[in-house]
Amino acid sequence: MNRQPPSRVLGMFCAAVAALLLSACQPEPQDTKPGQPVATRQKLFKAMLREFEPMGVMLREGPFDAARFEGHFRRFLDLAEKPWPYFREDTCYPPAKVKPQTCTDLAGFERRKEAFLGAVAGLNTAVQKELGTLAPQGSARAETQARAALKAAYDRVYDTCQDCHRDYRKK
Ligand code: HEC
Repeated sequence: MNRQPPSRVLGMFCAAVAALLLSACQPEPQDTKPGQPVATRQKLFKAMLREFEPMGVMLREGPFDAARFEGHFRRFLDLAEKPWPYFREDTCYPPAKVKPQTCTDLAGFERRKEAFLGAVAGLNTAVQKELGTLAPQGSARAETQARAALKAAYDRVYDTCQDCHRDYRKK
């Protein structure tokens, strides 16, 4: 058996701990470019997710609260326009988590963005139509139908988020 002297074992142990600590403490690179396009769009996407996700939870699991849903949707609609001007061909530096084509295939990226905004417009139409039909004391059947219509429009938006992430975002 290959028995190591205790001091060597301890040394190896310390080296392993140091390596772990180092990787855990490695700071995220900061966006130091003027206007911080990368950090700004990441912040906007996070804000967008904070409005988008609760709508999905309500549609899938309930309880459905029309006023809360509409509040999330309004804020989401506003945010949906915002990240795009921060994507330019010189914005693929760390801390960006993007695939290289995000900065070389701007036309393809633009098409994904248009598909997304089209689906968002579809959700907007559904929200106008369906939330209007939900009187506070609406029938259970009306609510079930409204939720199904909203969920279909919501899922289309979700798919366009995923389509773009698959092609342009680095996991
Ligand atoms: C047209 C493309 C596109 C669409 C549409 C899109 N995203 Fe993204 N998203 C990206 C890219 C690219 C990144 C990586 C940005 C970076 O790190 O610079 C990203 C990053 C994110 C992040 C991580 C932000 C961070 O802190 O690193 C979240 C969260 C996110 N998107 C949510 C969403 C949601 C939710 C939707 C739909 C409602 C959506 N995105 C639609 C391209 C898109």
